[in-house]
Amino acid sequence: MPNTVFVLNGPNLNLLGLREPAVYGSTTLADVERQAKAAGSRLGLEVDFRQTNHEGVLVDWIHEARETAAGIVINPGAYTHTSIALHDAIKAVALPVIELHISNVFARESFRHHSYVSPAASGVMCGFGTYGYTLALEALANIVATRNATSSS
Ligand code: DQA
Repeated sequence: MPNTVFVLNGPNLNLLGLREPAVYGSTTLADVERQAKAAGSRLGLEVDFRQTNHEGVLVDWIHEARETAAGIVINPGAYTHTSIALHDAIKAVALPVIELHISNVFARESFRHHSYVSPAASGVMCGFGTYGYTLALEALANIVATRNATSSS
């Protein structure tokens, strides 16, 4: 079992820290990457942290994870609310996937209340700011450890 996990970020998250700071805070994506890698090393996970503004690239990375990763944390950004392709890609790879949102999407506009990703994900985390990345990695580490223990017994 690889101990690499992918942390994938979708559109506009490259602007974290600059973009709507009242909603998303002032932490940049580079800060989040540092925090995620530090959390990963505490949890015994190698974090491969990526961001793209393109839906198909997220699909390709999910497929890539199938061969090389133990699981995925994904903040799909607005593709959460639109992308059947992401739903299908997550279903196609038999990996634990945690869906993550920095903001509490349920306290925002109604178009953010529906997710195509949630029905395919192992779990969903939202509303804890960028600390959610650490929480999601802890949840993923727990799922991976439980799976490894079950498959080796
Ligand atoms: C987001 C929530 C989405 O609704 C939004 O489109 C984003 C960011 C979040 O992290 O809170 O781009 O995924």
